[in-house]
Parts: sequence; C-alpha cells; structure tokens
Amino acid sequence: MMLQVQQVSVDFDAFRAVNDVSLSVAAGELLGIAGTNGAGKSTLFAAVAGQQATSAGRILFHGSDVTRQPVFARARLGLARTFQTPREFARLTVLENLLAAAPNRRHESLLASWLGRPGWQRHEQELTAQADEILAFVRLTPVRDQLAGGLSGGQKKLLELARVLMLKPSLIMLDEPFAGVNPVLIGAIVEVLRDLHGRGIALVVVEHHLQALKSLVQRLVVMDQGRVLADGDPHQVLADPKVQAAYMGGVV
Ligand SMILES: Nc1ncnc2c1ncn2[C@@H]1O[C@H](COP(=O)(O)OP(=O)(O)OP(=O)(O)O)[C@@H](O)[C@H]1O
Ligand SMILES: [Mg+2]
Repeated sequence: MMLQVQQVSVDFDAFRAVNDVSLSVAAGELLGIAGTNGAGKSTLFAAVAGQQATSAGRILFHGSDVTRQPVFARARLGLARTFQTPREFARLTVLENLLAAAPNRRHESLLASWLGRPGWQRHEQELTAQADEILAFVRLTPVRDQLAGGLSGGQKKLLELARVLMLKPSLIMLDEPFAGVNPVLIGAIVEVLRDLHGRGIALVVVEHHLQALKSLVQRLVVMDQGRVLADGDPHQVLADPKVQAAYMGGVV
C-alpha cells in the first residue's frame, strides 16, 4: 500500500470532523471519495497532506510515518493535493504560477539567482520546459501567458492540477475537481485524470457528483459525519443501504 490512513481523527475544539478513519490507497490506484456536505472529506485531505494536525491515528506514505511531517516533507515524498477552491496567484501568468509551484533548489542561493549564475539560468530553463510540457498535458498551452486571475473556473481547476504536477507526485488527492466546471471542461478534466492514472500516478478524487465519480474510479469510499460508511466496488457501495440512507435515497 502506498498510503495508509490508520484510525485518524481530527478535532476542531469539541467537534470531531474526522472520526476514526482508516483507508489505504495502492500504488497507481484510482480511488473516489464521496460524502454529503460536511462529511469531513476536505479535512481528511488536509490531515493527509499535512495542512491539518490530527488528534489521533497514523498516516503512512510509502511505508514511512508522516503523521507529524510538515507539508513540504510529504510533498517531497510524492504526496500532493489540490484544493476545493483553487489557490492560483491571480496576478501571475499561468506559466509563472507553475514556476512558483516548483520545489526550491535549496543548495542554490538566492544570491546566485540575483547574480544570474549560469547554473541558476539552466535550472530556470529546465523548469520552464517542464512547465510547458505540463501545460500541454493539461491543455492550458493557449493561456500560458495570460494572468491566472482571468481564467474560467474549469481552467483554474486544471491550473491547480498543473501546479501540483510540478512536484512530480506519485499520489494526487483532488478535492472536487469537477465542481462549478462546465460540461465541456469536465470531459477534459476526466481525460487528464485517466491519462495520469495511465501513467501510474495514484489518484484520490473527492466528488459530490456520484455519477461522474462512479464512471471514473475503481473503488469508492463514502464518508458521512466524519466516518467511513462504506469502502469497495462503486456499484456495491452505492447500493449499500447505509449509503442510501445517508443520501436519503438521492444517490443516483
Ligand atoms: N477549520 C475549521 N474549524 C472548525 N470546523 C471546521 C473547520 N474546517 C472544517 N470544519 C467543519 O468540519 C466538518 C467537515 O468539514 P469538511 O470541509 O472536511 O467537509 P467536506 O466533506 O469537505 O464537505 P463539502 O462537501 O461541503 O466540501 C464541517 O462540519 C465543517 O464545518
Ligand atoms: Mg470539502
């Protein structure tokens, strides 16, 4: 297993937003997580990626315990997430947004970059080439030099994904990649996700839209009130009476 979440809980004062959640993700797997509003999906992502401290449990990634590791350390191991609300730098271009997302080369000083040392320039050229490749992959090449603030909702979701790809992750958690996206771009995002999956990158997709999720994922986890209600084959999970009850019969 690539990611193991073991009995993790997250508390906000007296409120337990994630309650004793255990789940695992195998290398290259495409897992969906569904659940009603406030079920704890985004909080679980934050706990796994390191933005949110846990109150109980352990998180293992590639076998190492990352429960107390900062975000950048988990990212360096290949663990990345996107946010429900895209976090682009509105006044930077699309390309600059990708360059800003690249991990720092700590052995190269800022001073060297000011002095324009050749090593730094080469590094920047390599990063730009990598960014251009990713932009082509997520179909954002036509808006490469536009300000990110002017992108559509769907393009911002793709930019969010592109920024994460600069980290060369082995597992990406996507928080509602289809929310507020027009149907044409939803198709494009689905294609990009299938393509990433085809390249062996593990994906965990949180989504309200159960039909879109069902056709995309191999396995489905449903959360409700901080807990995992069901975990398994998407068709079986959606037919589970507990899941039906949580959605008040509105699953399909
Ligand atoms: N920083 C916080 N402080 C206090 N409560 C929070 C905080 N973040 C989330 N919560 C609460 O924790 C619960 C779970 O929230 P979370 O955002 O994880 O749900 P979600 O499943 O992602 O919901 P949605 O589908 O609406 O995005 C909610 O009741 C929410 O109000
Ligand atoms: Mg959420």
